[in-house]
Amino acid sequence: MRHHWLLVGACGWVLLILMFLGKLLSFRAVHDYGSQSWTVPGAKVVKDTPVPSPEKPLPVKPTVDDWQLEVERRLRRLSTVCNNSSLRNLTHMSISKFVLDRIFVCDKHEILFCQTPKVGNTQWKKVLIALNGKRSQKTLKKKSASPRLSSFKPQEIKHRLDTYFKFFFVRDPFERLISAFKDKFVTNPRFEPWYKHDIAPAIIRKYRKRHRNNNNTASGLHFEDFVRYLGDAEGHWRLDRQFGEHVIHWVTYVELCAPCEIHYSIVGHHETLEEDAPHILKAAGIDQLVSYPAIPPGITRYNRTKVEHYFSGISKRDIRRLFAHYQGDFDLFGYPRPDFLLN
Ligand SMILES: *[C@@H]1O[C@H](CO)[C@@H](O)[C@H](O)[C@H]1NC(C)=O
Ligand SMILES: *[C@@H]1O[C@H](CO)[C@@H](O)[C@H](O)[C@H]1NC(C)=O
Ligand SMILES: *[C@@H]1O[C@H](CO)[C@@H](O)[C@H](O)[C@H]1NC(C)=O
Ligand SMILES: *[C@@H]1O[C@H](CO)[C@@H](O)[C@H](O)[C@H]1NC(C)=O
Ligand SMILES: *[C@@H]1O[C@H](CO)[C@@H](O)[C@H](O)[C@H]1NC(C)=O
Repeated sequence: MRHHWLLVGACGWVLLILMFLGKLLSFRAVHDYGSQSWTVPGAKVVKDTPVPSPEKPLPVKPTVDDWQLEVERRLRRLSTVCNNSSLRNLTHMSISKFVLDRIFVCDKHEILFCQTPKVGNTQWKKVLIALNGKRSQKTLKKKSASPRLSSFKPQEIKHRLDTYFKFFFVRDPFERLISAFKDKFVTNPRFEPWYKHDIAPAIIRKYRKRHRNNNNTASGLHFEDFVRYLGDAEGHWRLDRQFGEHVIHWVTYVELCAPCEIHYSIVGHHETLEEDAPHILKAAGIDQLVSYPAIPPGITRYNRTKVEHYFSGISKRDIRRLFAHYQGDFDLFGYPRPDFLLN
């Protein structure tokens, strides 16, 4: 039992992150999921059985080969764009404390996971706390409190960056912003009041164009205000500093994970989560610890209609400025330029 919980404590967060990714999806489309739900990792841990080491990719099913090819295509593209000197300002980022804070460490399975905002920080942490809360706090707290790479010494950081399995997830940058906008400013969960009460008014004060109808901020943040704030390359740093870590929900993947400096093993795509997630678990050697429900194909697909809807009525100038800021994320991960919005 003790081993069981230590295992969950040390690496449960990796599984929880992945599960939470799925949870977000099922939350959005519960009716499509039927009765399937994600399995708690602990329930699947086999006691006293050695954890299988990451298997060499066996050439069995063509789908695995296809997926492997796709992974290599993604990494090659990443490397090509990273090497392009004319995009340097948009793609390179020093491995700062901010980046190291984004990367979670699972020493037992030698995994690093860079947390991208699509994966709800607050919620999965709550799950983890609930999970750990059931056992003796003292012994587990230190080990299981989601160690981040920033908590290690420089040589320990280097060792882990050089040798561990490293991955993160991306999605279409504009869909991500729409999702962040909806989650943080429209839905506004009760436990995150600062988005509506602190961040939204600050953005409105600085970026809302038309003051004649709204002399206050009660009508809430509009997507247009958000777009203008994010596209203001020179001006938004002052607000960003004021917002602190909350900006992780909309700063670029480049700023979050330094994908040109850290040589990630795999970059998962949200749009193909149903294929990527099980393959990544397998590649990371933890597929024995967690099982997946079938994610209905298409549920995470890019929805152009939605993107058009959100950007309709926003000026081309503002959209182009926004794109200029996120162009690195589009290019590095192979997302096509949204010409239908820019031209
Ligand atoms: C990018 O540059 C690095 C270092 O010069 C090199 O090793 C790598 O092969 C290049 N990648 C591509 C795709 O050309
Ligand atoms: C580098 O990026 C620029 C801008 O996207 C592009 O025009 C150019 O073709 C790229 N160069 C290479 C070698 O891929
Ligand atoms: C990159 O940024 C530096 C300073 O931030 C600037 O001087 C330079 O002109 C930029 N280069 C490009 C290609 O935008
Ligand atoms: C302006 O704001 C004040 C209080 O903030 C409110 O009482 C007033 O009705 C508002 N006026 C308009 C035109 O919205
Ligand atoms: C795409 O988004 C639109 C508008 O939000 C929605 O009505 C539609 O059902 C979505 N399409 C798919 C395939 O999810």
